[in-house]
Amino acid sequence: MAHNDPIKVGMLYSETGVTSSIEASQRFGTLFAIEQVNEAGGVDGREIVPVSYDSRSEPALYATLAERLITADNVKVIFGCYMSSTRKAVIPVVERWNRLLFYATLYEGFECSDHVIYTGAAPNQNSVQLAEYMTSTFGPRVYLVGSDYIYPYESNRIMADLVGQCPGGTKVSERYVPLNAAERDFDEILADIRNAQPDFIFSTVVGNSTQCFYRAYADAGFDPAKMPIGSLTTSEVEVGQMGAAAAEGHYTAAPYFQTIQSAANVSCLAKFRARFGDSAAPNSCWEAAYFQFHLFAAAMRASGSDDIDALMPHLLGSSFDAPQGIVRIEASNHHASLYPRIGRANSEGQFTIMRETRESVYPDPYLVAHDLGSTASQMTSVEN
Ligand code: ACM
Repeated sequence: MAHNDPIKVGMLYSETGVTSSIEASQRFGTLFAIEQVNEAGGVDGREIVPVSYDSRSEPALYATLAERLITADNVKVIFGCYMSSTRKAVIPVVERWNRLLFYATLYEGFECSDHVIYTGAAPNQNSVQLAEYMTSTFGPRVYLVGSDYIYPYESNRIMADLVGQCPGGTKVSERYVPLNAAERDFDEILADIRNAQPDFIFSTVVGNSTQCFYRAYADAGFDPAKMPIGSLTTSEVEVGQMGAAAAEGHYTAAPYFQTIQSAANVSCLAKFRARFGDSAAPNSCWEAAYFQFHLFAAAMRASGSDDIDALMPHLLGSSFDAPQGIVRIEASNHHASLYPRIGRANSEGQFTIMRETRESVYPDPYLVAHDLGSTASQMTSVEN
């Protein structure tokens, strides 16, 4: 291969299906970073060229397309996946072909593949903080509502464990809806919530159905000031879909919100909007997709290759001044040190940041050293 040949990278983000909106934001975050790298001269003069397929929110199709990227397009590194079911479908493919997946989504933890770099929050960077905030502010009785696949089951199990560590902490009930649930699919659950009167709801509903849940909740007359929904997957994208009125007063834990006031974030958002306008609402998955690409480009510059074996020593331990703060890929588990934050949806369709950490929190995907109160005690309240 000539030294100035373009470098092809794979992108697997759904353009159709239940998670198409949130994955569009990840695709735009990746494209934004690719353009920045190319405008700065590429990697050692070589242009980055993305090869992108619509994986249609279907786990089996992710595996097929990952194989196509590797065998037909000769791609060595893939950026993609949102639902954990899709990541779990792609991992055997990248492991078999000795390739690398960059995964920019919060997930349930309890995984560590040598062929994945995980840049979304692990449970000790979002679930622990949300559990602490919701139980101490609203009370310890939680009602769990999720989409029917692996992330909600596992994330709900973790939330129930964390809440159970509080005095009086209980899981009131745990209910699931289909991935493409409509508003009416929540009717019976809402009737049950009215009956059970939990202190708060933990929603692991994902993608385009999220708006249906929050709208149905508002239409049923529930007051978020008394019984709010807390979530890890309701970002600025889903809030945009449901509208500020349905979202206002509910909570999300994430390392990034658009409302972060740092110079790095303000400048990054201005540049993104100047180039891509309103194509995607920036959110924590967009930001992870953005910064992980820059980490890849820096590792490739240092190694001179996009082979996983050449890249990995440069990726592990590397850091980047991301919009959320300085993030770092930890060598021990391939996950990132990140900055947990708690946001409350406001009347502008944005999140008012209620609490945040000053120091980044080391990823602990197996929750070995983290229980309720451990990282939560590092959080400081933000004056609004
Ligand atoms: C997810 O499935 N990791 C949101």
